[in-house]
Amino acid sequence: MLKRVRQFIRGMFASLSENDYTFIADYLTKPEFALFRTMSRYDQKHALNVAGYLAENGAGTPLVRAGLLHDIGKAECPELTLVRRSVAVFLEWQAPQEAVVLAERGRGKLARAMAVHRDHPALGAARLETMNVDAYIVTLVRWHQNGEASAEAAADLERLRAADELF
Ligand SMILES: [Fe+2]
Ligand SMILES: [Fe+2]
Repeated sequence: MLKRVRQFIRGMFASLSENDYTFIADYLTKPEFALFRTMSRYDQKHALNVAGYLAENGAGTPLVRAGLLHDIGKAECPELTLVRRSVAVFLEWQAPQEAVVLAERGRGKLARAMAVHRDHPALGAARLETMNVDAYIVTLVRWHQNGEASAEAAADLERLRAADELF
């Protein structure tokens, strides 16, 4: 939980530089880049940190691309503000059953934020499929939070999850 508080504070001051966008554009196609830019600044910075860390530690292009795109399911969701996502994390932690009910049957901005917060791996994977993104990257995005992907993806998935935890 303390980590979440730290993330929240960091998120309020997130910003990206020209150099950051140059790095991102090196790895993403134009449509992917355009979609990336629709994420909140906070999510863009987080994805950049994850991908940058992976690149610095010798990851190949597919894994770096997965790092940039892993939370793309949170794009185009203005309801997913820092405050609402903090509420989502808190409820999922303290009242998991109520969190499920709210995400699935609730109405309003908090319910939408909670549904996207929970389902963003599947939402992101589905979105990337429509853009003909490589199936391997779609797999990494789909399973980046939990669950088991193919044996082929297991090692990269572990690296992606570890990097995701760091930022
Ligand atoms: Fe995620
Ligand atoms: Fe993430």
